[in-house]
Amino acid sequence: MAKSQRPVNRHKRSDWIIEALAMRLAQRKGSTLSRTLYGALRELIQSGELAPGSALPSSRRLARALRVGRNTALAALDRLVAEGFVHARSGAGLFVVELSMPAADTPLSAERGATALSQRGSALLDDCTTLNITHRAFAPGVPALDLFPREQWQRLLRRHRQRAPEQWLAYRSEGGVAALKAALCDYLRLSRSVRCTPAQILITQGAQQGFELIARLLADPGDCAWIEEPGYGGARAALAAAGLTLAPVPVDGEGIDPQRAPSGASPQLVYVTPSHQYPCGVTLSMTRRLALIETVERSGGWIIEDDYDSEFRYASPPLAALQGLSEEARVIYVGTFSKVLYPGLRLGYLVLPEGLVDPFRRANARLHREGQYVVQSALAEFIDAGHFSRHVARMRRAYRARQTALREALAPATAKGLALSEGHAGMHLLAGLAGIEQERALVESAREAGIELSPLSHYFLGGAAEPGLVLGYAGSPEAEIARAGEWLAKAWLRSG
Ligand SMILES: Cc1ncc(COP(=O)(O)O)c(C=O)c1O
Repeated sequence: MAKSQRPVNRHKRSDWIIEALAMRLAQRKGSTLSRTLYGALRELIQSGELAPGSALPSSRRLARALRVGRNTALAALDRLVAEGFVHARSGAGLFVVELSMPAADTPLSAERGATALSQRGSALLDDCTTLNITHRAFAPGVPALDLFPREQWQRLLRRHRQRAPEQWLAYRSEGGVAALKAALCDYLRLSRSVRCTPAQILITQGAQQGFELIARLLADPGDCAWIEEPGYGGARAALAAAGLTLAPVPVDGEGIDPQRAPSGASPQLVYVTPSHQYPCGVTLSMTRRLALIETVERSGGWIIEDDYDSEFRYASPPLAALQGLSEEARVIYVGTFSKVLYPGLRLGYLVLPEGLVDPFRRANARLHREGQYVVQSALAEFIDAGHFSRHVARMRRAYRARQTALREALAPATAKGLALSEGHAGMHLLAGLAGIEQERALVESAREAGIELSPLSHYFLGGAAEPGLVLGYAGSPEAEIARAGEWLAKAWLRSG
């Protein structure tokens, strides 16, 4: 009789599960604890040893019995849930789902696909969260799609499509439409003090593609990359996928602190969000900016300056870009239209030192191909005609109002001690929590209420994750964010 069919009680079963897992962890080679744990549990499920309907040990029990961090156990269990091996029953825990074996001629199923992944693919997947676009309230980084001037934009697109020259239908490698590069250059020089000429700009399909190009062209597999801790998962994934060794460097009130970088390899790449650290919201101080420039000068490396949302400051103008600090600064400036316009646009850009323009342009045309010339030329007119700056000004007002609505809704909780960030800039607030347990409980009960909460601990790569919530407010109209805020205030008061 298979183990799973024995009439054992729940506790005995979880004992042998834990023994089997402990054995696998002891044999672990070169993989992270959470990936090993996930793989071992998945094998038990796929082999039928953990039969459909079986209860899994809780993350707390796994962590205690296997002597691993609670986050390690949670990451493994969350991935099994996300991939559909396990489902959560409200208040009862996690249970194995019924897996029907795929017929021989069906396309690669989800679970076979996951098994087929390379080590690198599998590691990458650990850091791939999927955005649930049905829940806008609290989604970090989602702009006000409801306020985008869609008709005006459609009119522009139509006009530029009609005028498109035949060569825009061909393969090209000029780094983007010249009119957009010129319009961007004016904007960046004036509003961000970036030092550039239009020729230094490479249009990409969003910041993400920029990170990937930088990682592949300016670093080799195994090189060290400093990343902010906590920090942006998109950049982290691009650097890790290019084979870099990530070194999380703690962020405090002055931004990333180079003095607390792990000792050892000097960084080939340093990824930072200087004007508004993601997700903590602090501005990188001038002392730290100069220290980072010195660090990469010494190591022969590069700073990646991700200036993703500097347009949205409510109290004071942003500090000038790090890139503009000196002519020789070893900085690649990365910009995106995902926040100021909308993420589905897939347009971003790099500002490159002159010597790197040609290699980046050629590699981009080879690896990703260029395109979207009609959209680029429509966007150039959108900027030149002043629609862009009007839209930004309108968004600034809207985001301030949405933030106020969220703060007011959370007032019953803040009156009792819920700590919120200052919110002088950006599109989200940070709420501090008492512990990982409270964070997990709030995220779970929000999910049951149809609300997606982003736990701050997920923004950490290293061990000491801090508990909290990253509360995006920009994407939801005031009434919607207020409703979600009221729910959160009550849930926080109950959880305290
Ligand atoms: C810190 C940060 N940088 C960049 C981006 C934008 O990336 P993309 O242009 O690829 O949409 C985001 C989006 O969430 C972000 O949070």
